[in-house]
Amino acid sequence: MRITLSVIKADIGGYVGHSSTHPKVVERVREVVEEAKGKTIIDCDILTCGDDIAIVMTHTKGVDSEEIHGLAWKAFEEGTKVAKELKLYGAGQDLLSDSFSGNVKGLGPGVAEMEFEERPSEPVVVFFADKTSPSAWNLPLYEMFADPMNTAGLVIDPKMHEGFSFEVLDVYSGKAVKVRTPEELYDLLALIGSVSKYVIKNVYRNYDGEIAATASTQRLSLIAGKYVGKDDPVMIVRAQSGFPAVGEILEPFARPWIVEGWMRGSHNGPLMPTSFKDARPSRFDGPPRVIAAGYQVCQGKLIGPNDLFDDPAFDYAREEANKVANILRRQGIFEPHRLPSEEMEYTSLPKVLKKLENRFYDPEEVKGQIKGEVEKGDMD
Ligand code: F6R
Ligand code: MG
Ligand code: MG
Repeated sequence: MRITLSVIKADIGGYVGHSSTHPKVVERVREVVEEAKGKTIIDCDILTCGDDIAIVMTHTKGVDSEEIHGLAWKAFEEGTKVAKELKLYGAGQDLLSDSFSGNVKGLGPGVAEMEFEERPSEPVVVFFADKTSPSAWNLPLYEMFADPMNTAGLVIDPKMHEGFSFEVLDVYSGKAVKVRTPEELYDLLALIGSVSKYVIKNVYRNYDGEIAATASTQRLSLIAGKYVGKDDPVMIVRAQSGFPAVGEILEPFARPWIVEGWMRGSHNGPLMPTSFKDARPSRFDGPPRVIAAGYQVCQGKLIGPNDLFDDPAFDYAREEANKVANILRRQGIFEPHRLPSEEMEYTSLPKVLKKLENRFYDPEEVKGQIKGEVEKGDMD
């Protein structure tokens, strides 16, 4: 049976501030999607991470289905009504258009979808992160699918031994390139180490071309042409029998690494793996969180979720993340805690630069003439 697994997420209002979601909003979104169960969709589940809500749906309509995207849009619109009634923070912020035009891509919500022939047993993991960006998946996807020190299956499992191919998207040009590993591993790393430019969109198994992983790659800042909120990402990864084991998929998260997107979308911070209940970033609006929801797909039904980071084996990663957070917070507004200036394009930085534009001079030319007087300028 060919099944499509669609995960569509949006921030439609924060409770309180940008820290979490409100149960009434989540309930309304769930109600709308559940009404479609057995009709448009086979099954559904709702996940939350920080101030974002993800709708997980199974169906047989393929990726980019107008009906499925329309259903998610309607659910988010209905949830937004509740968020507005409660005057939640940034209510409806990711519904950037007043009307749905067939596909949520480019409108604001993040989308990760894949279609596959359901295997005799089909374990999948849905990752969902807040206060970060789609490039947060670059490092773990490399480790899961191209690093034998992380994924023993690359060496041991015959179906994985030929490696995996990565589809990498340049978020500025919108163009993508497919890179095959292990042959072109260093080419892959040359690209995906540039986290503000390149993001992994899909991963395919070389053995037979099967889809192995897919991630949302929408960048709200670029969609709207200005900074309107962050592009907190979702990702689907298939597990076991020819794909990495669940434990190999989770392993990269056992050691936190630094991602962009903390406070005001303008800071780097450690990605902390947490249980569903602890995915409520509060300290300095963070640090960035990630949850992992495991499902067994059974004739399209979602058996789960299993809260995979709700495991003391990830306590150490959480502790490490807190230590890294402290070290970075010591930097305050200074890089490398704060993002480099090119990444601050949609903030007040251009205004500051504009204000000071005519006051820059060559210190060599005016040697001995500067007496300390300061011209005043307006910030607008
Ligand atoms: C939003 C986020 C937050 C906000 C911050 C300021 O996802 O990460 O850190 O950027 O709370 O929010 P505003 O500008 O809405 O007051
Ligand atoms: Mg928000
Ligand atoms: Mg968010």
